[in-house]
Amino acid sequence: MCGIIGYIGDKKASEVLISGLSHLEYRGYDSSGVALMKGNRVEIYKAEGKLKNLVEILKTKPDICNSTHIGIGHIRWATHGLPTTINAHPHTCNCKNLTLVHNGIIENYQELKEELSALGCTFQSQTDTEVAAHLIAREYGKTKNLLRAMQAATKKIKGAFAFCAIHKNEPDKIVIAKRNAPLIVGIGEGENFIASDIPAIIEYTKKAIYLSDYQVGVVKKNSVEIYDENDNLIKNKIEFLPFEAATISKLGYKHFMLKEIHEQGDVIRNVLSGKLISNKEKINLENFKLTQTEIKNIKRVQIIACGTSLHAGLVGKYIMEKFAQIPVDVEASSEYIYRDTIADENTLTIGISQSGETADTITAIKQVKEKNSHIAIITNRADSTMARLADSLLPISAGIEVSVAATKSYMAQLISLYLLAFYLAEQKGITTKDSEIIKLKQELIELPNKVEALLEDSSTTKIKEIAKKYSSFKDFIFIARGINLPTALEGALKLKEISYINATGYGAGELKHGPIAMLDNNMPVLAILNTGVVYDKVLSNCEEARARQARLIGVTNKIERKDKDLFEDLIIIPSVSDLISPALNIVVLQLLAYYIAEYLGKDVDQPRNLAKSVTVE
Ligand code: F6R
Repeated sequence: MCGIIGYIGDKKASEVLISGLSHLEYRGYDSSGVALMKGNRVEIYKAEGKLKNLVEILKTKPDICNSTHIGIGHIRWATHGLPTTINAHPHTCNCKNLTLVHNGIIENYQELKEELSALGCTFQSQTDTEVAAHLIAREYGKTKNLLRAMQAATKKIKGAFAFCAIHKNEPDKIVIAKRNAPLIVGIGEGENFIASDIPAIIEYTKKAIYLSDYQVGVVKKNSVEIYDENDNLIKNKIEFLPFEAATISKLGYKHFMLKEIHEQGDVIRNVLSGKLISNKEKINLENFKLTQTEIKNIKRVQIIACGTSLHAGLVGKYIMEKFAQIPVDVEASSEYIYRDTIADENTLTIGISQSGETADTITAIKQVKEKNSHIAIITNRADSTMARLADSLLPISAGIEVSVAATKSYMAQLISLYLLAFYLAEQKGITTKDSEIIKLKQELIELPNKVEALLEDSSTTKIKEIAKKYSSFKDFIFIARGINLPTALEGALKLKEISYINATGYGAGELKHGPIAMLDNNMPVLAILNTGVVYDKVLSNCEEARARQARLIGVTNKIERKDKDLFEDLIIIPSVSDLISPALNIVVLQLLAYYIAEYLGKDVDQPRNLAKSVTVE
């Protein structure tokens, strides 16, 4: 994880670095630091905790901040070593001539550290990055050239890195390198920027070069030179950055999470746009590159993802097996990569990732790519590493999601999976499902309005009341069955990640196989029950829970008067079929998690220990 930034130009470097880091806070936020270079003087400032602590330190250094135009910065999500000031980046070598920031993990750092210690290097921190700083500095000693030193050092490093380095003897440049961690160079007029991600630089430039793995570059005020691993000068394409600075604003909402929850109606409209024209017309998925014959030959689908994206995949399985009639396996990427997995040209692999930078999913997709399986990537970042691995790229275009807890991207992933499932069914010519698909397509068209109805004050007031009432509980159980089981898992994940309440999602039928032992009147059980095949079954499971004194909260589209008393609290969603209901139920659970966390005074957008983009295995 971590975010890195670099600037060289005429602006005050400290301002560009701090602004950039503030937009990279979603990548980590346990400490931060900058190095400011003026002539052959380099000043390093670091702070534990949130970025605001670093800002306070810089306020006391007006001289250097007002007069420095080259610098590098870092925001950390600790991997090696505690989140302390000493472990915060930038790191230096013994002579302090070289300064480095790093995103990634150096796998052979212990080995390198031993070698460097034997050569006399002494280490201040517990980080793998400091090892790299010493290594590059040693190489510099041989060549007196920062580019050459970076090239030589990175050849010895195993693992993932995006590096920005400066050297006191070469005060006109920043040298960068990339392997398995994102890095872009923003191109300006008489200035250039380096960043882990677009939001860090979008207010300054809309043009950027995306570095590829094994590339190394020299960034100066008026030039950018990129070299491949064989030292050939490369002409990387300058790409247009597809975002507006305004998309990274809260627009009056207290938190990004709340704003992003409220954007979901439009997010659905965006995903449907151009693909679902009317319920009578076939789904148009021109980005999906398999021919009709190839689709008919698909014997198996495997969906690979992590966290919230994995939960979207579980809904996808349900809908794809039902309509496209293909067996679907849904796999957590982190488990997938350490197994002898099976895939071939008749397997369709779908990678789902908001960021497109999740290390485990990237590794899994790379593994599958060698097996000739067609790779479809559903991602919010069409500019990401994962997108670049896709045979079929299915962008979800939800707009930048800033809050660490994923909300609108989950919604967009769900809708994309519905469309893909219906598309596969239509291309396979499964006519027996036609009438049902036509009905569901109509529901998808009506869905944005229903989501917006659910977000109106009258519904949210009820959810707020429930949130307040249950905010003091230490544990929570979410139950559902069928297509809403992933909703229960996702609702529990949302609650635990932003409120730190121990919440677990279960298939309601599984309750009696163990978890029921935990039920008493200190255990709220939130049940999702939609009219459909499992409605009565979930209702019976609720009866069982109630009989054990559990505090029952129901989320439902319909409830018979006689069953109402079973629930201590009820949240009624707009009328919807069971198969589309995950897209409405999840909005309730997102809001419930949000209001509980907000009521508890938690840091909703930046929950402890987390980072939005998990770029380390
Ligand atoms: C939860 C959350 C994480 C991510 C997971 C995968 O709110 O955000 O569980 O879903 O880290 O990230 P992506 O989708 O970027 O691959």
